[in-house]
Amino acid sequence: MENENKLEKIVSWAKRRGFIWPSSEIYGGIGGFYDFGPYGVELKNNIKNLWWKTFVQDREDVVGLESSVIMSNKVWQASGHEKGFIDQLVECKKCHQRFKVDDLTDEKCQQGGKHEFTSPKSFNAMFKTHIGVVEDQSTKTYLRPETAQGMFVDFKQILETSRLKLPFGIAQIGKSFRNEINTKDFLFRVREFEIAEIEYFVKSGQDEKYFDQWLADWQKFILNLGIKKENLKLFEHPKKSLAHYSKRTVDINYNFPFGWKELAGVANRTDFDLSSHEKASGRDLKYFDQDSKEKYWPYVIEPTLGIERLALAVICEAFEETKSRTTTSQAASENEIVLHFTNLLAPVKVAVFPLVNKEKLPQVAQEIYQALKPCWNIFYDETGSIGRRYRRQDEIGTPYCVTVDFQTLKDKTVTLRDRDSMKQGRIKITDIKGDIAQKLGC
Ligand code: GAP
Repeated sequence: MENENKLEKIVSWAKRRGFIWPSSEIYGGIGGFYDFGPYGVELKNNIKNLWWKTFVQDREDVVGLESSVIMSNKVWQASGHEKGFIDQLVECKKCHQRFKVDDLTDEKCQQGGKHEFTSPKSFNAMFKTHIGVVEDQSTKTYLRPETAQGMFVDFKQILETSRLKLPFGIAQIGKSFRNEINTKDFLFRVREFEIAEIEYFVKSGQDEKYFDQWLADWQKFILNLGIKKENLKLFEHPKKSLAHYSKRTVDINYNFPFGWKELAGVANRTDFDLSSHEKASGRDLKYFDQDSKEKYWPYVIEPTLGIERLALAVICEAFEETKSRTTTSQAASENEIVLHFTNLLAPVKVAVFPLVNKEKLPQVAQEIYQALKPCWNIFYDETGSIGRRYRRQDEIGTPYCVTVDFQTLKDKTVTLRDRDSMKQGRIKITDIKGDIAQKLGC
């Protein structure tokens, strides 16, 4: 499948199958904002839950946090975002399109020939807002462009209440907002998105060792979502492109249909944030080391990733359009779409069907559906031909389908179909739950 074409196909599939579509669509949409429909939100939650389990619940050295989206303006002054979260913007004098200087390509102007750009202007990418009814400088603040600052501002509070010792981390998943000059490539560059990131506090001198560990753990997590190793590549930022707070940053790039682009990253933020907030707030944000009896600002290793970008990479990886896999003559002429999500990420785990709407088949299928529903997200469907029902589930990536047929009424067995191999085997009704639990690994 052509790569450019692949993104278009994914955008159309995502809308048609109830995963993702533009926000406020009945009013023509709003650039850079998307809604996650019934299957999309399941997929996104599965990614977030797996992340939370891996990095918070399964570890002893990381705790979770949910800090507010809107914080005091002083936070953004101290962190350097008010002065430094700046994009350079140019406008084409002929077609009046605006571009981020970092993203300029050789693309042609819509008015013909090359673009003719104005000189660059600075543009702060944070969304401004006001707190309360009066709109002046004193009430101005921003929607957060990253979750990280919440972890720094709450550092002392967490240290005192959890009694953690270095090295330890604070993890957060949350909405972040950036007023991007151009939004493009579906979920890749949007204005509202979720970041999942950890601020991992270490003693300076140990920062380089922990940087390498986090880079390895971050890649392992991404690979575990079904992303192929050959589709990931590391990019070491040269000194001149480092953010104002960073000693070292490595991006984990993914081979998207529109090229190799940043999916996630790891940065060494040194003691920049804690020292800046201590200076600006006047509050002591140092760590007291019981062993050495020293007080110091720890260094911070920050692994970060965008949930929407990760969801897009997971979809790109799972999406397959094939010549017909079914044998019925009508369906054989059509291409089929199959989403090969891993079992843990699949929005629906099992679909249950009666082969036909006759005799006691729907009743038995309903009983199986009701028995499985408390454990996983299960789908029941009795409309259309059985071939079409299988295809509908393949299109949303459901790994298993259970079909109740006439033999079920005789021997209390059903067929269990595997999405990827399309193999069907018979299994006793009483064994379904255990078998599915084993297959899903939960
Ligand atoms: N606290 C560090 C930080 O915010 P970042 O690289 O600017 O670092 C973190 O952003 C992650 O958020 C990126 O690795 C990327 O996955 C995602 N991201 C950044 N801007 C985005 C946008 N406009 N749309 C979607 N995801 C974005």
